[in-house]
Parts: sequence; structure tokens; C-alpha cells
Amino acid sequence: MKNLVVFYSRRGQNYVNGSVKNLDRGNAELIAGYIKDAIGADAFEVDTVKPYDKDYMVCINEAKIELREKARPELKEYLKDISGYDNIFIVAPNWWGIYPMAVYTQLEMLEFTGKTVHYVVTHEGSGLGGVPKTITASCKGAKIGDSLAVQGGSAPHSQIQVAAWAKNAVK
Ligand SMILES: Cc1cc2nc3c(=O)[nH]c(=O)nc-3n(C[C@H](O)[C@H](O)[C@H](O)COP(=O)(O)O)c2cc1C
Repeated sequence: MKNLVVFYSRRGQNYVNGSVKNLDRGNAELIAGYIKDAIGADAFEVDTVKPYDKDYMVCINEAKIELREKARPELKEYLKDISGYDNIFIVAPNWWGIYPMAVYTQLEMLEFTGKTVHYVVTHEGSGLGGVPKTITASCKGAKIGDSLAVQGGSAPHSQIQVAAWAKNAVK
């Protein structure tokens, strides 16, 4: 079984446990690392050409506009071919109810037939939100596997839980 983790994560200012904190590594980035270590996987980071503002409050407004416009931001690098993988793990935060628009830029250009997609959403209270629906719509042809919501503040302490979840997902 070959596994791939596709993740998006915001470093720097983010909302954690009810206040704005500065993160050296984003929560979804930590979780992507735990999955990689637990089951052995390649990793691909989704990142936008145009950076979001460093200020959390400005960033949430930028993201709100993108959501409203159903934007598909340009990426620094595109993952073009997932034919060599059996399991694709998607790991990204909940931004206004679903994943950041950049995640969909990437997912919508891939062919998922014959692949199983598992996904993790980091959040500050909204859980999986509307992500499950969007995964079904964006990952064309995929078999949808397991999902996990991780509250961002607990991400640094969630390695054991995430590793067990990932191992079970690929059983
Ligand atoms: C633009 C933006 C919008 C967000 N919207 C939500 C939201 O609607 N619901 C929620 O629970 N958390 C929301 N959050 C908080 C993030 O989901 C949470 O901090 C998450 O752990 C961040 O993961 P990351 O560090 O990997 O980026 C938002 C954060 C940002 C930056």
C-alpha cells in the first residue's frame, strides 16, 4: 500500500484555544507529520502563490472573500499525478466551515478513481463542518474512507490518537 499525505497549514498567527497565538508549525502540519511517521507516506504541501496576511484578523477576512467567490487560488506547486498511491490523506484546517480554497484548487485537478481518501480537519470548534460534502464533490471517483476532527490546541498532544486513527484507516 502506498500512502500520500496532502496538507495545507498556516504558520504564524492562528486562533488556538480562544486566542491568537504564534505557531512555529501549523496544527495540520503537525498532524500530517504524525500520519507520515505512523504509516509511512509521502507528503505534499499545498501553498498559495499569493500569501495570506500575517495578521490573523486580516487573514480571516481574505479567506471569507475567497469562500464567497468560490476562489481557486493559484498554487506554488501542483501535485499532478497520484496514480502511484492507494491511500490519500488530506489534512487541513476548517476555514469558515470548509477547507481553505487552495485545497480545492489542488483536489479538483486530480483523478481519484481507485483511490481511498481519508481526511483530517483541524478546527477551533466547528469540527468537520461542511468538509465531508466537499470531499465527495472534489475527489472525483474516490472511495471515501475515514475522517477525523482535531481541535487545533490539542494537535501538539494528539500524536498517539492520530497514529492509531491512521493505522486503522489503512487496515
Ligand atoms: C481564515 C481562518 C478561518 C477560520 N475559520 C474557522 C471556522 O470557521 N471554524 C473553526 O472552528 N475554526 C476556524 N479557524 C481556526 C482554524 O481552523 C484552527 O486554528 C486550526 O487549528 C488551524 O490549523 P493550521 O494551524 O493547520 O492552519 C479559522 C482560521 C483561519 C486562519
